[in-house]
Amino acid sequence: MLTPKLLVVGELNVDLILNKIQSFPQVGKEMIADDMNMCLGSSAAIMAANSAAMGVDTAFCGVVGEDYFGDFILNELERKSVSFRHVTRLREHKTGCTMILNFGQDRANVTYQGAMNALTINNIPFGKPSPYQHLHVSSLFLQKGIQHDIEQIFRSAKAAGMTTSLDLQWDPTEQWAFDYARCLPYVDVFMPNESELLALTKTDSIESGIEKIRPYLNTLALKMGRNGSMGISGDQRVAVPAFEVEHFVDAIGAGDSFNAGFIQKYISGASLEDCLREGNLMGALNTTAAGGTGAFCNLNKISENIKDFWGIELSLS
Ligand SMILES: Nc1ncnc2c1ncn2[C@@H]1O[C@H](COP(=O)(O)OP(=O)(O)O)[C@@H](O)[C@H]1O
Ligand SMILES: [Mg+2]
Repeated sequence: MLTPKLLVVGELNVDLILNKIQSFPQVGKEMIADDMNMCLGSSAAIMAANSAAMGVDTAFCGVVGEDYFGDFILNELERKSVSFRHVTRLREHKTGCTMILNFGQDRANVTYQGAMNALTINNIPFGKPSPYQHLHVSSLFLQKGIQHDIEQIFRSAKAAGMTTSLDLQWDPTEQWAFDYARCLPYVDVFMPNESELLALTKTDSIESGIEKIRPYLNTLALKMGRNGSMGISGDQRVAVPAFEVEHFVDAIGAGDSFNAGFIQKYISGASLEDCLREGNLMGALNTTAAGGTGAFCNLNKISENIKDFWGIELSLS
């Protein structure tokens, strides 16, 4: 059997996480954090790493600087079996970093975008035909260098024979400069969560949000947190409930793990319902360990845990 090939285009950054802070950080004061972790951050990288852990042959396209954080990211991608042959290193840019300050259930994040703004359409390997079967793009609003070319990126991917998916993620500027009417026709699977759909369509109900994008939509995979997910494709509409999580740790990266599960099934030709179910399963698994990749060490561990938690045999075809 030929292995499906996934190309993930997106931002790369290091997450520097300070835990067990004595009280919530205040301007002008110094606090002590009793724990610290540095790990591979970014939605796109979590999606890529977890796809590779599920056995999907995955490559990443992004930009880092020629600095220590850049070295760290490439090592982590390699360790997680994600090919970084399309990751560009630029001396004039510093690698992006997100500083995460955790205090109880509250969290403050600050992101320095750095090199992630330097990715352009010219960095993306299309080829005709493409050596990749599927293109997934994540975090559009964190990457100024591809924002204006996003329609062309999806057009080129379709012209190269790829199937495509897009997770916009939140827009920190809240301008939502994404022309869905022009772009969505070239996106096979559009993967927002509920608040992103409302903000993008400037509506206050999910139904009106769906109505706004429906004329341009191929497939919608809407992520609804503890309520699971909903899929729409033509006249078909399927809602799949979330999996119960007994030992919830955190939901960091749940949407990215959902994307990995959904796309793994999608590229193997599964039905919309099966894609949503696998997305929910990986999203739920994600919440059982710290961060976005903690529950995705390797295929054996993933299938063991899925069997233990939900009595499900992992099927990857
Ligand atoms: N508390 C939870 N319990 C079970 N499943 C969850 C939970 N949180 C998230 N998920 C699963 O992960 C998916 C993605 O999470 P969600 O929070 O909706 O996305 P995002 O991280 O993009 O905001 C959901 O559709 C759901 O299937
Ligand atoms: Mg998300």
